[in-house]
Amino acid sequence: MMSVLVIGKDSQLAQCIMDCEKNFPEIDFSYKDSKELDITDEKSVKKIFEDYTFNYCINCAAYTNVDKAETEPLRAKTVNTIGAQNIARACKVNGSILIHISTDFVFDGEKKTPYIEEDYTNPINVYGKTKRDGELEIEKTLEKYFIIRTSWLYSQKGSNFLKTILRIAKERKEISVVNDQFGSPTYALDLAHLTLKIISSKSNNYGTYHYSNLGKISWYDFALEISKTWKLDLKINPIKAKDYITHAVRPSYSVLDSSKAQKSFNIKAIKWNESLQKCFLNYN
Ligand SMILES: NC(=O)c1ccc[n+]([C@@H]2O[C@H](COP(=O)([O-])OP(=O)(O)OC[C@H]3O[C@@H](n4cnc5c(N)ncnc54)[C@H](OP(=O)(O)O)[C@@H]3O)[C@@H](O)[C@H]2O)c1
Repeated sequence: MMSVLVIGKDSQLAQCIMDCEKNFPEIDFSYKDSKELDITDEKSVKKIFEDYTFNYCINCAAYTNVDKAETEPLRAKTVNTIGAQNIARACKVNGSILIHISTDFVFDGEKKTPYIEEDYTNPINVYGKTKRDGELEIEKTLEKYFIIRTSWLYSQKGSNFLKTILRIAKERKEISVVNDQFGSPTYALDLAHLTLKIISSKSNNYGTYHYSNLGKISWYDFALEISKTWKLDLKINPIKAKDYITHAVRPSYSVLDSSKAQKSFNIKAIKWNESLQKCFLNYN
């Protein structure tokens, strides 16, 4: 039996890991929410690892509000950078393997072909910078880690673009969505499955990986497909990012190349619209 600590129990990703549990009977899961374990508190993080032995730790906890991070940079850094450092140090002392989730927002979006793991990082907002610095802390501290960069995460759980569109469709008849920022949506259940596949395969291909669903689309394309799939009565208008004012700037292109993860962990990445369909069928 392998013991796995999942930090950030209420995150959409951890909730999806729970949904995958039954497929991995060889794993014994422990979950901690932010009240049980605040990752910014070094002593509490140390204590959790002293009290129990974990073969793996999956860190789903993060400061994920991209716009709010611009006005709360210290808080974002404390969670995304110092929090990651606290977890990496505790994993080091206790010999636990860390699976940490990072983001496409470590890139500036200037590239025109899918980003590979070795591409130069150059975050253009506070969230991306604090996440990139969290990656650096892990790389400095640990040898046995997997950093998985993902993008545009959605599911039935938590807050995400899909749920925002479904909510807005109940309140309004019309919406404008940005059509000149491109990326790949990722169904959190697919990412959850990948993290558990890494553990069950006992892979020692440590390092940084990209993982998203396949395809390049804009937020506008994503909204249209959501509307079509859920049969929403919602008129969706395309809008340029420059005309849609947000606190944080976002990369105009952040498609991730998932080939390294597919090869290393023997998984097949799924097309974004097929995964959206799967999410629809699972949605209740
Ligand atoms: N969402 C996306 O589109 C996206 C895209 C790329 C990468 N990612 C990354 O994927 C991972 C999972 O994202 P997600 O969307 O599943 O996250 P999420 O649903 O936004 O949840 C984040 C979780 O982190 C917890 N948390 C915040 N501060 C904490 C602290 N100090 N100590 C312990 N827990 C704390 C929150 O707990 P409370 O709710 O109790 O505060 C919340 O449960 C994150 O690393 C994120 O950066 C997300």
